[in-house]
Amino acid sequence: MKTFEVKTKINFGQNALDRLLDFKTERVLIIADPFVVSSGLIRQVTGRLDRTQVTYEIYQDVVPDPPIEKIIGGVRQLMAFHPDYIVAVGGGSALDLAKGVRKFAAEMSQSERIPMFAIPTTSGTGSEVTSFAVITDSEANRKYPLSSDDMIPDEAILDEELVKSVPASITADTGMDVMTHAIEAYVSINNNEFSGALAEKSVEICGQFLLRSYASCEDSHARRKMHIASCLAGLAFNSASLGLTHGMAHQLGAKFHIPHGRANAILLPTIIQYNSRIDRASRSRKEYDPCVRKYCNVARVLGVSNLNEITTVHALVAYLRFMNSEMDIPSNIRDLGSVSAADYFEAINDMAAAALADGCTATNPRTPTLEEVIELYKKIW
Ligand SMILES: NC(=O)c1ccc[n+]([C@@H]2O[C@H](COP(=O)([O-])OP(=O)(O)OC[C@H]3O[C@@H](n4cnc5c(N)ncnc54)[C@H](O)[C@@H]3O)[C@@H](O)[C@H]2O)c1
Ligand SMILES: [Zn+2]
Repeated sequence: MKTFEVKTKINFGQNALDRLLDFKTERVLIIADPFVVSSGLIRQVTGRLDRTQVTYEIYQDVVPDPPIEKIIGGVRQLMAFHPDYIVAVGGGSALDLAKGVRKFAAEMSQSERIPMFAIPTTSGTGSEVTSFAVITDSEANRKYPLSSDDMIPDEAILDEELVKSVPASITADTGMDVMTHAIEAYVSINNNEFSGALAEKSVEICGQFLLRSYASCEDSHARRKMHIASCLAGLAFNSASLGLTHGMAHQLGAKFHIPHGRANAILLPTIIQYNSRIDRASRSRKEYDPCVRKYCNVARVLGVSNLNEITTVHALVAYLRFMNSEMDIPSNIRDLGSVSAADYFEAINDMAAAALADGCTATNPRTPTLEEVIELYKKIW
């Protein structure tokens, strides 16, 4: 038996943040990205709470790829403040940190988990509707995708006003994260008709609006669409899970702090070739792996399908590489310029072992061996 459930109430459209005006006299712990606070963007949230009788405090010790220590800091503040609600405002890092705070606080005090609102300020992770929180163990240089139903936020607020300030390079990275979520969920061995419908719509929106959103932060229509696409992809992978691209990207994030979406963007074309077993030398076959039909559907949604399976998978891979280059995302790790060859090659064996153990890899359509993952890491250098 399979089930499909959306646990999060999603508030979206113009002035979606007005949902906050429904608060009355509660105590609210806001967990926010420090940029959101320093830039004044937070006033979109606090300004509305100021119009209610709510008492709030802000925890803003959030860093990208949130480590356990920062979660503990949040738990401390929560235990001292005793909030009725948590309102998380920020990118995936702030939302994941807040999910961790809520979960660990409930476990430590053996009390009910506190209701949580998630307000994303990037259009990328879909964390506002997922049971995942990706936490970093900085000592071991590992990232762990924790997953449990009690981490799913109760409500999400999607308001495009909060993503207008996202600069081009972060729009590119987070947008390709959305594309990767949608495609990996679509071909995951756990995919189903519900996750498939959500993933297809998300891919379609990315195809139509990601480059537009990248080109101008003033393009509210494109930014609103990408904010919805991010959430749709989150719903898709919350049901179907992800794949090897994410399994490998998590290690690149943990070891080298390559932004999550950028790591996915670099990996995705290579992983599609690997999963489909279609590369330059491929010749027509009678039968293809089941994921090939799925990749061909993705290509059709993006308007790049053509004569047969082989040329269509090639066209999809080429399209994704084109998207990367249009948005100035390097095509390999070397061209990022932030990682030395010596450090990278020294880390490959450990990263490959960790990628194999990563929860996302388990639902990849092709089961990789350690040697194959090592080769894939070498290939993207
Ligand atoms: N929980 C999930 O389901 C899930 C899914 C995918 C990825 N993740 C995790 O989420 C994290 C990545 O999240 P992310 O890609 O949203 O990036 P992020 O939250 O790390 O933020 C990236 C940068 O964008 C800035 N930023 C955020 N909002 C902004 C705004 N409105 N304007 C300008 N700058 C803004 C932040 O200050 C930060 O410097 C990673 O740790 C990744 O592993 C979680
Ligand atoms: Zn992701």
